[in-house]
Amino acid sequence: MSQNTAATATRPRVFSGVQPSGLPHVGNWLGAFRNYVAMQDGYDAIYCIVDYHALTSTHDAERIRRNTTEMALGLLALGLDPEKAILFRQSDRPEHLELTWLLASVTPVTWVERTPSFKEKKRNQPEDVNFALLSYPVLQAADIAIYKARYVPVGKDQAAHLELAREIVRAWNARYGAVFPEPEAVFTDSPIVKGTDGANKMSKSLGNVVEIFGEEETIRRQVMSMVTDTERIRRTDPGRPQACNVCQLHRQFGTDHEAIWEGERSAATGCVDTKRLLAERMLTTFAEARERHRELSERPGYVEEILRAGAERLAPIARETLRECHERMGLGPR
Ligand code: TYM
Repeated sequence: MSQNTAATATRPRVFSGVQPSGLPHVGNWLGAFRNYVAMQDGYDAIYCIVDYHALTSTHDAERIRRNTTEMALGLLALGLDPEKAILFRQSDRPEHLELTWLLASVTPVTWVERTPSFKEKKRNQPEDVNFALLSYPVLQAADIAIYKARYVPVGKDQAAHLELAREIVRAWNARYGAVFPEPEAVFTDSPIVKGTDGANKMSKSLGNVVEIFGEEETIRRQVMSMVTDTERIRRTDPGRPQACNVCQLHRQFGTDHEAIWEGERSAATGCVDTKRLLAERMLTTFAEARERHRELSERPGYVEEILRAGAERLAPIARETLRECHERMGLGPR
């Protein structure tokens, strides 16, 4: 039995990827990373820092390297356990790139051109609409397909990429035979976390994040700067918890959000009180991760060791998938 089949026969496989964007923020955690951690039990879980993907929008070598280490450290601090799940760096498994090419050969250009993220990046970086940017979702499909992963924990912003990944593997399977499972997105109950502006998705590039590992004062300041219910002008106006990002976040950081919401509705509490409470609860929730982050930061070489070992463990699986593809696609000798 091949390694691939052996692994899928025992536990369903999970794969997800994250860009090397530095330390994780609250949006990453609520939308995806808490599922990474939850799914390392009971699944064959593989998580990847996608540094090849980063090249589509940055050409700063130092930044990519530093941010890769920071992201990996953040994930480990948040509870990703290298004894249970594999964590690795994408560029340590270049088979992803070869599979990208093989999948690209069955992917109509129109599919990638209409990807929302491509249209958005074209707008955001008009000076650098590079070819890699267009192939971004094919590489994402290859990341998942190379390990024949079935489940993909992601935030809702990745739903279109996941749908495209399904279409791409379906197109490949239709032509060459059923090799790849169609991957399914797995969402948390907060699949889109809004940023401090209360309007857009929380994202480093928009500068609207609440950090997890920043200084306590920074985190408090970020939370206190959050936009709440824009129709609640005076302290005595009743608040609308459904329209308030701070109230929505309270659902994730305590069990008493109904009482907090009632306080807002009746104007018994003001937005400032509600934000102050949220900041303290976030700090409590992440206290252990922040402590672990401090400890791990003092172990130079630790992250590198984990990433390298992870990539090595994946080598046989990635190679076996490519061998199967070669055989079916007519590449190399019979
Ligand atoms: P990336 O690096 O932007 O984000 C990593 C994960 O965090 C989730 N996320 C959020 N979820 C909810 N609310 C938010 N504000 C928020 N911000 C980030 C993202 O949905 C994601 O799950 N293209 C991917 C990386 C990737 C990948 C893959 C993912 C490459 N290959 C294969 C899955 C499978 C990305 O840029 O994620």
